[in-house]
Amino acid sequence: MIDYKYFSRRYKNILITGGLGFIGSNFIFRLLKNTTSNIFNIDKLSFKKNKLSLDNQFKTISTSRYKFCKIDISEKNEIGNIFDIANPDIVFHFAAESHVDRSIDSPENFIKSNINGTFNLLEESLLHYRNLTPQRKEIFKFQHVSTDEVFGSLGVEGYFNENSNYLPTSPYSASKASSDHLVKAWFHTFKLPILMTNCSNNYGPRQFPDKLIPKIITSAINNQPISIYGNGLNIRDWLYVEDHINALLTVAIKGISGFQYCIGGDNEKSNINLCKDICNLLDEIYPKDKSYKSLIKFVDDRPGHDFRYSIDSTLIKNELKWQPIYTYQKAIQDTINWYLNNLDWVDYIKKENGYDGQRLGDFQL
Ligand code: NAD
Ligand code: TYD
Repeated sequence: MIDYKYFSRRYKNILITGGLGFIGSNFIFRLLKNTTSNIFNIDKLSFKKNKLSLDNQFKTISTSRYKFCKIDISEKNEIGNIFDIANPDIVFHFAAESHVDRSIDSPENFIKSNINGTFNLLEESLLHYRNLTPQRKEIFKFQHVSTDEVFGSLGVEGYFNENSNYLPTSPYSASKASSDHLVKAWFHTFKLPILMTNCSNNYGPRQFPDKLIPKIITSAINNQPISIYGNGLNIRDWLYVEDHINALLTVAIKGISGFQYCIGGDNEKSNINLCKDICNLLDEIYPKDKSYKSLIKFVDDRPGHDFRYSIDSTLIKNELKWQPIYTYQKAIQDTINWYLNNLDWVDYIKKENGYDGQRLGDFQL
């Protein structure tokens, strides 16, 4: 159970980066519903593309506690006096270029946002931290949201944990690994109080439609081929976004400064089995004349495709008493229903991002 009263008392002002993205927007909804904290969200998406403002749920809970500013964190001069205005007790750093396929097509933005952007934020956080009163210094945290992909790829056995070696393989994971190293260096060298989490693949509402689960759902209902890379046997450990948010809040409340926590869903699936599960559920709740499975197409593999990710979450489970509480059966069904009820959101996101639903270079084997 999250102690929201304690959280609100401790973290009165919160700076969130990347809060218009998938996880960040779900995180902001949770904070607005359950805390009294002031939330300052910075994201490089334009106000026009502010996905939160599109969401009916947000309209009903929007309060004067929430402020948004369009800022590209890779541009030092854009960050400007944001720390003076937001005056944060904690920074949740979600902002990142986040899609492996996009990092293969055009890596430069990943270097800028994920490495330079994190560096700029660390510099500004340190300046801010040094000017805090001793009482506020005790509380302040820079919480970095990272990924299990920094540890590379697993074979059929074994798990990642906090002691795993860094062995990133894609431009995305290499840029996230760099950002992790910067965050750790700012803790060790400058004593900036940091917390870091490395989680497995998330799923849930408001995920961009070019990631696997939303892509399967939206391709299926639009009667388009569902492209599965290679032989479909690659494995991911799927974590429901609400479980991830519980973990992030738990770490913010109970985590030890300088520590890294791995967060997994205890829910490994091969891509093809996950795809079949979604098709079977769609056959039940949105039936068409043929099973959606007939749309599955195996396509050329992703270059350097990591075989398997899986997390051993023992540290956060034992030390901070977090564990995933949503069942896969319920969470995947809720996710599918959310997309079915928000097809206008999907169309809007695709249009605004020039995304046509197919990966560059996708073709049928
Ligand atoms: P997302 O792509 O949906 O959201 C990222 C947000 O960051 C976007 O709104 C984007 O506009 C913003 N952003 C990117 N570059 C920026 C910049 N230079 N300045 C300001 N804003 C910028 O991604 P997500 O899935 O919500 O992921 C959030 C974080 O969680 C990322 O750091 C990602 O590496 C990490 N993560 C995600 C997953 C997952 O499965 N989604 C798993 C592990 C870790
Ligand atoms: P993705 O959602 O891009 O997350 P990540 O690469 O960060 O794990 O992809 C999840 C898995 O699904 C990955 O093994 C690649 C695979 N995949 C497909 O088979 N087809 C697709 O259309 C996409 C987007 C991904």
